[in-house]
This record gives sequence, C-alpha cells and structure tokens, in this order.
Amino acid sequence: KSVLVINGPNLNLLGKREPEIYGSTTLTDIEALTRAHGGEIGLEIEFYQSNSEGELVDAIQGAAGRHHGVILNAAAYTHTSVAIHDAIKASGLPVIEVHLSNVFSREEFRHHSYISPVAAGVICGFGAKGYVLALDALADIIK
Ligand code: DQA
Repeated sequence: KSVLVINGPNLNLLGKREPEIYGSTTLTDIEALTRAHGGEIGLEIEFYQSNSEGELVDAIQGAAGRHHGVILNAAAYTHTSVAIHDAIKASGLPVIEVHLSNVFSREEFRHHSYISPVAAGVICGFGAKGYVLALDALADIIK
C-alpha cells in the first residue's frame, strides 16, 4: 500500500525557519525518517511539498486512485483553506492531519483548522515524530 505525504507552505524552510518553534530538523530529515518507517511497516511513501494552495489541491486530487491514504501538514493553509477541505472530501481518502508544533499552545488564529473536520485524525506537537505516528495510524486504517 502507498501513502502520499504532503507538506504545505514554508515547510521547505524547516531547519532555518523559527528554530525555537520548529527545531533544527529539515524537511529532508523528515522525509528520510518517514521513508525509513514506511519501509519498516511495509508502506510505500511518496513525499511532496508545495508553497501553493492550488498545487496542494492538485496533489490531493491526484492521490485518489494512486495512493491509499494521505498524511497532510497543510501548514498555514490549515487555518484558511476551504479548497483543501473540499479536495480532501472529494478524494474519499483517509487523511491524517499533522503539525510539528502544538498549534493549540500558540496564537488563537492557529486554533481553528479547516482540515480537522475532514481528517481521520490529528497529530500535533510532537515534531518530526508526528509523521511516524501518523504513518502508524494510517497503516491501521488502510491495511
Ligand atoms: C504548522 C503549524 C501552522 O500553524 C503553521 O502555519 C505552519 C506549520 C506546524 O507544523 O506546526 O507553517 O503546520
């Protein structure tokens, strides 16, 4: 089975970006960690990042029929995007929402998510480990 891991805007800057919040781990590190864990539990991993809302919508649309589930850190679009909400709904795929930081301990505007109502579940606050936890959760759903 195959999982698409999608990362949204500014996550390409991980490692340099607000290290006091996001730590020193880069997106390449997260990709390696996720691929390694996928290998251990027998899931094929495709990794994707875009800063554009429309490209994230395209990635979710494209996942239907090609992948069995999605791990999504939509970053700032989490808090704004009805388009991504609709794309998840249309895909019919199980989506696990991930955030590196604990969004609930941060600014009020990060407390609302357009993704959560259409996600199978949400993992936040555990840094890169969240992607590994999400893979385990998704494995249970799609196996
Ligand atoms: C984030 C949290 C979002 O609020 C923020 O806009 C991000 C990253 C996280 O992984 O903690 O860019 O999704």
